[in-house]
Amino acid sequence: MFKIIIEAPYKDSEQINELLLINDIYNVVLNVPYIVTTDPNGYGLEELNDAYATFDIYVDESENIQVYEGNLREILKNYDLKSVHIEAYDPLKSEVVFEDIDLENGWVITTNEQADLSRSVVLNSGGAFGTGLHETTRECLRILLKDKLNGKRVLDIGTGSGVLTVGALKAGADFVTAVDVRDVKEEVYENLSLNDIDHNKIEILTGFYNTILIPVSKQFDVVIVNIGGDETLMMIDDIVKHMKKSAMLIVSGLVDWNDERINKEVESKGLKRISRAYENEWVTLVYTF
Ligand SMILES: C[S@@+](CC[C@H](N)C(=O)[O-])C[C@H]1O[C@@H](n2cnc3c(N)ncnc32)[C@H](O)[C@@H]1O
Repeated sequence: MFKIIIEAPYKDSEQINELLLINDIYNVVLNVPYIVTTDPNGYGLEELNDAYATFDIYVDESENIQVYEGNLREILKNYDLKSVHIEAYDPLKSEVVFEDIDLENGWVITTNEQADLSRSVVLNSGGAFGTGLHETTRECLRILLKDKLNGKRVLDIGTGSGVLTVGALKAGADFVTAVDVRDVKEEVYENLSLNDIDHNKIEILTGFYNTILIPVSKQFDVVIVNIGGDETLMMIDDIVKHMKKSAMLIVSGLVDWNDERINKEVESKGLKRISRAYENEWVTLVYTF
């Protein structure tokens, strides 16, 4: 496969897109120029309207690349372009190998399906492992795996790959209600299977936490939210209603410039902070009543 890269001012991108569409060129990826910014809730992205963007156009091997490139030069007379030969991505051929992540408490996160399941959280090597690497995920897992959760019911809000759900069940939890705004069922069930965990030990609810309305009669021993500060505050009133009097709440996805503000709000709901852990700028808070 070939990739043709066009460099152009970002403000011209609409016009370029139109020209490409008129000429039946569809396999185009626009790489928007941006910088990462910080805001009161964590990180944001700011588009750089005056910078250059790149357009990547993917061209099949069956095309004559010189002719294709020549046509593009005609269409986009004012812009620089170059073509490079790339390997087509074939998920069946590409084997992704990740290093194990040592949680430094006797447990590892791994993609190795032969790993010892009594001390490993095994994740599929697809997109999921990315989230397994994050500081906040690692810290939540350390907290969950520290205690015996036998007989406990857990609510995992923003379950993603289900990595924390797997962690809670490994720690002995009886049942997990896992919620995510995306449909993550396939990925979560796969990760349960990789860890030899009975699928009947969880229910997966799809939707924004505040819209799915879990009955208040469902009470939990452990609630985990690893999404972000302001997102947690939007849910906190409802979360508190679902916590048993002895319950533990783990709030992660916070940064060290918002955790005091979030902490004040959470404590105003009658919860007491019992620990604060951080790695780099990422903060995880644990509460009880
Ligand atoms: C940072 S990821 C955490 C994934 C996983 N729990 C972990 O610790 O690695 C946040 C997840 O929350 C989900 N999410 C974001 N806002 C949500 C909301 N309001 N209700 C439910 N899920 C939400 C996202 O789709 C994403 O999967």
